[in-house]
Amino acid sequence: MRRYMVAGNWKLNMGPSAGVELAAGIQNGLAGCTLKGDALVCPPYVTIPAVAAVAQGQPVYLGAQNCSDQDQGAYTGQVSAGLLKEAGCSHVLVAHSERRQYQKETDDLFVAKIDRVHAAGLVAVFCFGELLEERQAGNAEDVVKAQLAGVLPRVASATPENLILAYEPVWAIGTGETATPEIAQHMHKVSRDAVTGLLGPDFADAARILYGGSCKPSNAAELFSQPDVDGGLIGGASLKIEDFLGIIEAAEKVM
Ligand code: PGA
Repeated sequence: MRRYMVAGNWKLNMGPSAGVELAAGIQNGLAGCTLKGDALVCPPYVTIPAVAAVAQGQPVYLGAQNCSDQDQGAYTGQVSAGLLKEAGCSHVLVAHSERRQYQKETDDLFVAKIDRVHAAGLVAVFCFGELLEERQAGNAEDVVKAQLAGVLPRVASATPENLILAYEPVWAIGTGETATPEIAQHMHKVSRDAVTGLLGPDFADAARILYGGSCKPSNAAELFSQPDVDGGLIGGASLKIEDFLGIIEAAEKVM
């Protein structure tokens, strides 16, 4: 049985003071609970130290939204996985669709970043998923398989524990559109089968595949009931204490 994860990606929201309030609210809401899965919050870099002071380790893990592919040195504006660890992070998102789209990040960079994340002893959450045009053209499955094939076999350090996967149908991100539970399950199964081919059945069985795309308290239970959906990567709904807690509650109920 795979442990679920409900991960909040705060994106470019929540400075230190708002972030502390949100994280403390989540932590307080879960106080005394022994979760069946893991909760994770990923604030912007500058908010990480403030959040680390109120929420770090079970039940709420702390992660970053990105990291450098470099360790240290003359890399202006970059933040390394090692520094994130020192600041209290245990997880790092890699390859979020918004970084693919706006920063033009590529497979080579994702491999280098995941290597750095693992070298620092952290867990990478690797994101992948198709664009609306790709889905409309009937290419969703091929796109997802290619995104997995372009990265996973090249990460020598990957284990099901240090590499979490997150399927994000880009057409459902921040749009209010959610993949139907059937579409989500189908794409997660396609992804898990691809992982079987790339890394073997044991890895694929144990791999956690999160769903990202307008997941909310009202649809989380249905999505999380699908056999290949192991939790969610939540954007908008992770910015409200009650919504994020509601999604965790749904996970606790159905998983
Ligand atoms: P959303 O973002 O929940 O706001 O759609 C999800 C994501 O970025 O994965």
